[in-house]
Amino acid sequence: MPEPMQSSNSNQLTYGEYLRVAELTNLQHLQSSPPHHDELLFIIIHQTYELWFKQLLHELDAVIVNLRAAASNPDSRDEIYEAARLLRRCTEIARVLVEQFTILETMLPTHFLAFRGRLRPASGFQSEQFREIEFLCGLKDEKMLRYHEPAPEMHAKLEKRLREPSLRDVFFEALASLGVMPGLKADATEQERFEARARAILAIYNDERGHRDWIDVCERLTEFDELIVSWRLRHIQMVERTIGARMGTGGSSGASYLKVTLDKKFFPELWEARSLLTEA
Ligand code: HEM
Repeated sequence: MPEPMQSSNSNQLTYGEYLRVAELTNLQHLQSSPPHHDELLFIIIHQTYELWFKQLLHELDAVIVNLRAAASNPDSRDEIYEAARLLRRCTEIARVLVEQFTILETMLPTHFLAFRGRLRPASGFQSEQFREIEFLCGLKDEKMLRYHEPAPEMHAKLEKRLREPSLRDVFFEALASLGVMPGLKADATEQERFEARARAILAIYNDERGHRDWIDVCERLTEFDELIVSWRLRHIQMVERTIGARMGTGGSSGASYLKVTLDKKFFPELWEARSLLTEA
């Protein structure tokens, strides 16, 4: 049972002070005037996503640290188990992110159109944390930086992620330390590097007894990738249901633009390896 809250004149920490509930519940500033009933939901849903994005970045950074440690100490199993455990947390968060769209789908298209005009030119394109997750995982598109020019601090964070080794890079460096990465010429092409990485995954799956823990990490990374594609798909379905074929407030063609992003993968080699596996 939680301890009862202390009165505010005592020096003891209270639930509200610890979680900053007063500040948190005062961060929803409606643009519609008179206030539209559904705008509060619209803001809270986005804020909830951003909080989970923050948690995902926290976990994914820790996965990178653990994979690096696992690579430098192949005899210890602790770090690779920890990486798998944290990745499981990421997949569970991603599952919630996919599910949450149903709440926003209770908003009628007419109700959204009643206040949508007030939001222009703000857009999901400016979700710095979403883009950070993409860059951190390895999906780096420098062109997306331009949407963050109005916010120099966010822009700088993204530039840093762009330069840093991604989770994908660190994961393959770790596999190289296991000795499963085929040798490459110094002038190997991008395609040859991609194939070598897919073959390293293949070697791991083909030695299930020797690499059970690494297979677990591979499976969780694949699941995370899968769930992000599910997030993209559910977002598109919700967009079509709410605004049809209209353009986005960020200036894109809307749902038709978003459909192109469905082919994006964080860890394409993990998918390629599936085609390389031989039948018994
Ligand atoms: C009625 C609700 C929503 C509509 C109509 C909508 C519409 C759109 C559209 C049209 C785009 C393309 C960019 C543009 O031109 O603006 C976009 C991008 C985006 N939206 Fe939404 N959205 C909605 C809700 C949400 C929610 C709840 C989130 C949660 C964070 C979200 C996150 C994003 C992100 C991250 C992008 C960038 C995606 C990418 O570049 O791959 N959107 N949205």
